[in-house]
Amino acid sequence: MQPRIIGRNLMRSIGSVFSRRCWTVSTEKEDRFIVLTDETNQLDSTQPGAKTKRLIFPSIWLRDNCQCPRCFDTQANSRTIDMMHFDWKVKPEQAQISAAQQLKVAWSDGHHSDFSLEWLKERSFDPDTQNAYLRRNYKFERKAVVGEKFSGDFQKIRLQSDHRGVSSDSFKICGAETTTESPGSDRVLLDWLTHLITYGVALIENSGVELGTIKILARRVAFLRRTQYGETFYVEAKEGATNSAYKAAALQLHVDLPYNRYMPEILFLHCILQSKQKEGGESHLTDCLHVGQEMKASHPKMYDILRSVEVDWSDIGEDSGYEFHAIHREPVVCENKDGEIRRVNFSQPQRDNHFNIPAEDVDSWYEAWSLFVQQVHNSENRALFRLTEGDILVFDNTRLVHGRTAFNDSRILEGGYMDWDLAHSRMRILRKQLHVE
Ligand code: OGA
Ligand code: ZN
Ligand code: ZN
Repeated sequence: MQPRIIGRNLMRSIGSVFSRRCWTVSTEKEDRFIVLTDETNQLDSTQPGAKTKRLIFPSIWLRDNCQCPRCFDTQANSRTIDMMHFDWKVKPEQAQISAAQQLKVAWSDGHHSDFSLEWLKERSFDPDTQNAYLRRNYKFERKAVVGEKFSGDFQKIRLQSDHRGVSSDSFKICGAETTTESPGSDRVLLDWLTHLITYGVALIENSGVELGTIKILARRVAFLRRTQYGETFYVEAKEGATNSAYKAAALQLHVDLPYNRYMPEILFLHCILQSKQKEGGESHLTDCLHVGQEMKASHPKMYDILRSVEVDWSDIGEDSGYEFHAIHREPVVCENKDGEIRRVNFSQPQRDNHFNIPAEDVDSWYEAWSLFVQQVHNSENRALFRLTEGDILVFDNTRLVHGRTAFNDSRILEGGYMDWDLAHSRMRILRKQLHVE
């Protein structure tokens, strides 16, 4: 069916006034879509590469997203249309572009809506607009870090204390207690968050050795997430420790708290006191985004086993008088529907001895797991380094595995967690405030 042009006369009349931008309105597919076409580009279509810009909107979505005060509360930034009184078969009866660059629609339910072209342009259903929105706001670019490149990328994301914003010198001016933040410090914070999102790991140096520092740092972004181990936790060799991390022994590569469905995502580890032994208490990190991607390409069948077989993870115990019995079942590698790794579960101490899968599937799971274990420990994939007192190591606990070598003197880290939701939110706000594209 030919598109029906609505309001063309009006468009023509404003076309002469706003000759640089001429949008026409039409409907398609029995009024199920309203389409805006930029006639300016059409006129330019003789130019190489010129493309007619078409903005496509399903009619029902437009009616549902009417921005008038009866349908949308601007103060709460929320839709208020009563779902039980919505006409699901609603259709546009008239649509035109006004002189004020608004799309005006008269609906079959008697309602009238005005939409600004600026607002519409950002929400068009064409794939280019949608992908640009998602890349900027949601599907952030991640770069796998590996081997030699690992140390390169890792170095690059170090922030020295002369940067104002997230390092110790600036905590006093940037902490929760004060509002006197310089734009420079926000820029540093934004760059740091962007590094953390991209590489999954970032280090802050020279942060001093005061307990509570990560809480102040976290307040620059949002706030820490309390878990069964407290709002922050102290990693040190303790008498009668109820967790493998709180001993002086080596800590095998692992993620923290895989036995929680709601696993903490960003891990902060602040080195308060480092072992004085030459090789005691060194840190390991491996990016499982890299290991997983490699294994998917080289051993797809084994990767598929790790991606599909649910493993039982558990932590049964007590911390500071709080008793818990946490269990969660999930594969070692979890993907989103685009086939990207969204979470890795990996912990030798916290892998449950209940394994609720068919007995005949166990051998092939161990075979796949052993390959993954080898690759995670492969020195080409793993970074081995020493935290210095005052360092705060921050990384994505759903993506990188971490561990440490044994020590037999004193060593103290303070740890805490935050969720990506909060870090992403801060990044979006900072980008807007600082006009960063
Ligand atoms: C932990 C942990 C690392 C370290 O407490 O979960 O991984 O270097 N600690 O002690
Ligand atoms: Zn309305
Ligand atoms: Zn850990």
